[in-house]
Amino acid sequence: MPKKECVLVLDFGGQYTHLIARRIRELGVYSEVVPYFISVNEILKFNPKGIVLSGGPKSVYDKNAPIPDRRIFELGIPILGICYGHQVIAHLLGGKVERGEKGEYGKTILKIVNHNEIFQGLNSEEVVWMSHRDQVVKLPEDFEVLASTEITPIAAFKHRKLPIYGVQFHPEVIHTRNGMKILFNFLFRICKCRGLWNPIEQIDKIVKEIRERVGNEKVLCAVSGGIDSVTTLFLLKKALGENVIAIFVNHGLLRKGDVDFVISFLKRYGVRYIYVDASERFLNKLKGVRDPELKRKIIGEEFIRIFEEVALKYGIKWLAQGTIYPDRIESGKVGTSSSVIKSHHNVGGLPREIKLKIIEPLADFYKDEVRKIAKKLGVPDEIIKRHPFPGPGFAVRIIGEVTEEKLRIVREATAIIEEELMKAGLYDKVWQAFAVVGDDKWVGIHGDERKVGYIVTIRIVESVDAMTADWVKLPYEVLEKISRRIYNEIEGVTMVTYAITPKPPATIEPQ
Ligand code: XMP
Repeated sequence: MPKKECVLVLDFGGQYTHLIARRIRELGVYSEVVPYFISVNEILKFNPKGIVLSGGPKSVYDKNAPIPDRRIFELGIPILGICYGHQVIAHLLGGKVERGEKGEYGKTILKIVNHNEIFQGLNSEEVVWMSHRDQVVKLPEDFEVLASTEITPIAAFKHRKLPIYGVQFHPEVIHTRNGMKILFNFLFRICKCRGLWNPIEQIDKIVKEIRERVGNEKVLCAVSGGIDSVTTLFLLKKALGENVIAIFVNHGLLRKGDVDFVISFLKRYGVRYIYVDASERFLNKLKGVRDPELKRKIIGEEFIRIFEEVALKYGIKWLAQGTIYPDRIESGKVGTSSSVIKSHHNVGGLPREIKLKIIEPLADFYKDEVRKIAKKLGVPDEIIKRHPFPGPGFAVRIIGEVTEEKLRIVREATAIIEEELMKAGLYDKVWQAFAVVGDDKWVGIHGDERKVGYIVTIRIVESVDAMTADWVKLPYEVLEKISRRIYNEIEGVTMVTYAITPKPPATIEPQ
């Protein structure tokens, strides 16, 4: 969508690319992620105030290294290269990049030698987050060094006359203490942005667009009870009133109490809805399937087939769903250089042939923006504060085949975890809290009897946007209580473990 003010992020496949765009938006400037090979003509269509070149896993000298159109440097638009982006600037403009003797990973002290605009308000020494092996060893002509670290003498640079900057570290990552100041300086001092982006102000525009597209026709709105789908429903209700019919499909992989929760919510809000209990249908399709991506594809396919069947029955042509920006990212749809992490059911799992016209009003928004829109639309706290639950449900929390027994265990264990966190007043303080079960077994002793049982892993993380996450240092007493309840109350469990790996390198869900 065209915006009054926009900064483009060229995606070279870095794990933090979308964090950059999100941070820019947090600072009040609309930002969009585009593939690194975007043409200069395409770039100009956005009329961008600035361009950021993201990080990426390759080396500029690799055979298939992603290289942007070098004419971007002739546009007069301010450019900031980050990590690989910093190296690619040096490489294309006549400098030299080499593989360092040592890598530089984690927190590092940056010494600022030139307090240029981009470092305004920063100290002479700053803690920054580094993650690189290659480094710029020779500057291109007309460039100057702005900052160094012990391992990387050229850790930041600038063109002497043009607004072209590079930083080897990651200002977008929270561990770079004053990273937001650097991004602020780039946006407001160098790109001269004014800060016109406010997701709430988009509501009227979204509503208008939905009305224009759909007219007087009816729309089926897929609702799971999560914030994304409920916010989509509220937007549609605002745009189309009675012409919206919610569809809630139970795929048999939901949490304990989910069905009652969603139905009573829809009733309370006077929403017309259709409830489909398709548990058997989904579980039959998943029999014998172990591969996580295949599970997602099967579930995505079944969802769509059910939506189509219902739509056909009621003569409806439109389907709305709560896809948000990161869903597209993680499914590898945006910026083709980033690899598919997981296909989300509402995008990656979609079958090619869909007999319905799709509406995804939140497809350009990040989670924190959706939350703001939700609040403004009056979506109640019981929905906003609910932990996110993946579309494929427990299928991605059961490692290996989905069986009735594993499903029972994971469902009961998740309910215990949520209950105990609520009792301890911790539920609202964490991002997600759930159980995972796989096929591995552990020998247990029940009374005098040896019994082989399942291992349940507890996963509890804190996060702001699910792009990065850390495991929660839960008080031992709470962990102990959860563990004791799981192995005592759930038949077939002999061992409980706690997952203590952050994202990255792990993802939040096991599959
Ligand atoms: P990961 O596991 O990728 O999860 O770190 C990031 C966030 O996304 C949720 N998630 C999903 N949501 N369909 C969804 O609708 C999916 O296939 C899916 N996989 C992960 C996850 O719960 C977390 O909040």
